[in-house]
Amino acid sequence: MDIENDPNSNSQPDASGVPRGAFPVDRPVDALLRDHQMVRRLADAWTRDTSSAARNQAATQLLQALELHSRLEEGVFYPAVRQVDASLISHFEDEHHRAGDLLAAIKNMPETDPQREPMLRQLIDMVLQHIEQEEGEFFPKLQQAQLDMTPIGLQMASFEASLVHTMTIQDSRSGARR
Ligand SMILES: [Fe+2]
Ligand SMILES: [Fe+2]
Repeated sequence: MDIENDPNSNSQPDASGVPRGAFPVDRPVDALLRDHQMVRRLADAWTRDTSSAARNQAATQLLQALELHSRLEEGVFYPAVRQVDASLISHFEDEHHRAGDLLAAIKNMPETDPQREPMLRQLIDMVLQHIEQEEGEFFPKLQQAQLDMTPIGLQMASFEASLVHTMTIQDSRSGARR
């Protein structure tokens, strides 16, 4: 199947409105690296932007990008590559749980809550450290293990497409309630 030309492939903008492009099924780690770059860019925008409207927009997009990326790793990538380094995967999953709890708490807060700012800072610091460790320690190990990544990539592509669809629906529903 030619994913590039597949009308069902995920080349639509995600819930945060950022186009994600076709999923690189033979190199799924590239998709994770692309997500990491987006997280870094949005974290940087949130840190540097001076207007509260721009910061709120960056925060909303960041939370959505993080949610999508975390679910993709937890749902498919980590279970599929657990054999490469099980202890590191357990450690990453623990960090995802902690970040997920913090993310859920932030999402349920009004944007004007004074606790939101320090909690977002804490989440961003935690996440940036986590993605450094994935890129610096885990992805090189994965490359050395020379796994056939295409079956994992295909699974990740369809998981991501259905997640984006669900999250977009949830987002438009919560938007309609506002
Ligand atoms: Fe992760
Ligand atoms: Fe990651």
